[in-house]
Amino acid sequence: MNLEMLEEEKRSAAIASSKLLKDGMLLGLGTGSTVKFLIEEIGNLINEKGWSISCVPTSRSSEKLAREKGIEIVENPDRKLDLDIDGADEADSYGNLIKGGGGALTREKIVAVNSRKVCIIIDHSKYCPDGLGKFRLPVEVLPFMSNSTAENIKSMGASVAFRDGGKFVTDNGNLILDCDFGIIKEPQNLEIKLKAVPGVVEVGLFCGIADLIIMGTGSGTREIFRK
Ligand code: A5P
Repeated sequence: MNLEMLEEEKRSAAIASSKLLKDGMLLGLGTGSTVKFLIEEIGNLINEKGWSISCVPTSRSSEKLAREKGIEIVENPDRKLDLDIDGADEADSYGNLIKGGGGALTREKIVAVNSRKVCIIIDHSKYCPDGLGKFRLPVEVLPFMSNSTAENIKSMGASVAFRDGGKFVTDNGNLILDCDFGIIKEPQNLEIKLKAVPGVVEVGLFCGIADLIIMGTGSGTREIFRK
């Protein structure tokens, strides 16, 4: 796959999502290489139009980029966020997602469910009309007895690996298990079952959360899902 082409698709999806922004908005700011293009565009709106945008970032890396672009950081808002814009690792045509390739899934889910509208931006390689699951499902787990948590997830029929052999630590001080369940037929059921395993902090399945998914294509953008 041509990487330059994918970068251009990410950029065009991010620019299309920026049309949803309004001056004064409190934004949920996702994480990843697609969202980076959005952060740049928000920086342009602040500099060129004098807009004021504040955000709850979903990771330390997005927080750093946002600060550099003059986006105000809010840590613990007392109201719903106006809009959340985030990337994804996979998306199906029902709006279900796999997220957490960057390890930010827990904060991403908290931000998303506390936003009035959730817009997901992807390049075409993320679109999986035949079902989620080629990308290994990230599951954030507590370090405490994490070998046992991994065994319990394995017994549900997955092959499981600690990210970076256990060296990857999330912004919350936890570990990521990358889990291969094959093609996931019932993502919502799996999400519920995994969340019930003691030691699991959050699951990278996002079902029924996205309101809109914008995909970059070789020739512009396409909405692959709208609630
Ligand atoms: C971060 O943990 C992820 O959920 C990202 O949103 C996802 O990995 C998409 O990242 P890219 O835009 O870099 O593909």
